[in-house]
Amino acid sequence: MPGTGIVIVGAQWGDEGKGKVVDLLAENAEAIVRFQGGNNAGHTIVRDGEEFKFHLIPSGILYPDKLCMIGNGVVLDPRILLGEIDGLKRRGVDLGNLRISANAHLIMPYHVLLDTAGEIKLGKLSIGTTRRGIGPCYADKALRLGIRVQDLLDEKILRKKIMAALEPKQQALRELLVQRRKLRKEAGEGAREGADQSVAEAPDPRLDLHSITEEFAGYGHRLEPHIADTARLCWEQLDAGKTVLFEGAQATLLDLDHGTYPFVTSSNPIAGAACVGAGIGPTDIGQVWGVAKAYATRVGAGPFPTELDDEVGRHLLERGHEYGTTTGRERRCGWMDLVALRYAVRLNRMTALTITKLDVLSGLETLRVAVRYRSREGAIFDTFPYHQSILHSAEPEYEELPGFEADITACRSEEDLPAQARAYLDYIAEFAGVPIRLVGVGPGREEVVWIGGNPGVV
Ligand code: IMP
Repeated sequence: MPGTGIVIVGAQWGDEGKGKVVDLLAENAEAIVRFQGGNNAGHTIVRDGEEFKFHLIPSGILYPDKLCMIGNGVVLDPRILLGEIDGLKRRGVDLGNLRISANAHLIMPYHVLLDTAGEIKLGKLSIGTTRRGIGPCYADKALRLGIRVQDLLDEKILRKKIMAALEPKQQALRELLVQRRKLRKEAGEGAREGADQSVAEAPDPRLDLHSITEEFAGYGHRLEPHIADTARLCWEQLDAGKTVLFEGAQATLLDLDHGTYPFVTSSNPIAGAACVGAGIGPTDIGQVWGVAKAYATRVGAGPFPTELDDEVGRHLLERGHEYGTTTGRERRCGWMDLVALRYAVRLNRMTALTITKLDVLSGLETLRVAVRYRSREGAIFDTFPYHQSILHSAEPEYEELPGFEADITACRSEEDLPAQARAYLDYIAEFAGVPIRLVGVGPGREEVVWIGGNPGVV
């Protein structure tokens, strides 16, 4: 009997609390696989009062009996991964079940430099990336200049590949430095120019073939026991009738193809990408769970129609502790956007929706949800507009629903929730066209309400 693949994706702009949902659903799965993104993501899991923060390792690692995999679609910074491995070992977590795809691409020191340099060059037009080297790494993958995990196992191959990849970077970064020096000179910043000059002339280990090769070969030795053919491991599980979770990072509206381009990440966080990023077929996927906050947030630049710059926005920021796990940046906050959510539901063909952080809304007298947009020219959009300029100027039109006063963190069943909270959830499910199966009412792993019961994976 073939098993089921369950994909878990973000339905908004990221930070929806996917880690906790993966953690809960993992209870009934045999394996968990990350299929895209890198250490631009960050998730916090609270287990028995202990807080665990991960950027790369899938949330399932806290289950010692489950296979936990980093798929081929992930871009992996080995220093960050080894830091996480060491941190977990110190806390007594067994990492014997961690597997890393031999085909995953590596974030190299020059990718991080290029990410920052690219953002600086864009100036006011910058994307607000996490500066972790994600974009340049995926760009090298597409250019076929990437370094893969398997390359770490042969120092000769590693050196050759780094040499080929390095040369154009050195040139690009040199050009950027020259450009900046020129700009500074024009602005009369002589002292800074001198500093840049020395930076340009000093050998930078992040751009030195020998140092990088040596450093990365060392990482190879440490990671070797975990390196595997993760696609095959997924097939073995699925073919044996087991359940495999495919964990997405970032979210639908940050998707390179379907998100708010160019203000997106450089991978595809939507459910379809689980096939490519883990090496399975579309018919291996039986369920798609989308995760959305009860309101909306976004980090970095780009359109965000329901963004609030008022008391309610501050309420959401403070009550929701909306600061980035990766960069510590304040997140932009706003009302739930149902136009965008309905788009995400269809794009991922979700079978279930999870609404997180519902407790953050308590104390707000009225709740608003965006149900359509109005363009600058007055045109009405019931569906998510594909045109960038329309989206940038879109004004949301809201439906108002009554808020709730009560603290809901102790609610554990649908009946425990205030009638207004239930009505809010019903409205979302009806509009989005997908059942809500799980609601988050607090940060703890037990602070949830299952709707229609804990599926135990159906
Ligand atoms: P990058 O992925 O670092 O290239 O950043 C591209 C855009 O995606 C920026 O707006 C980031 O703020 C955003 N982004 C990347 N990862 C996450 C995430 O895990 N949560 C929320 N936003 C993210």
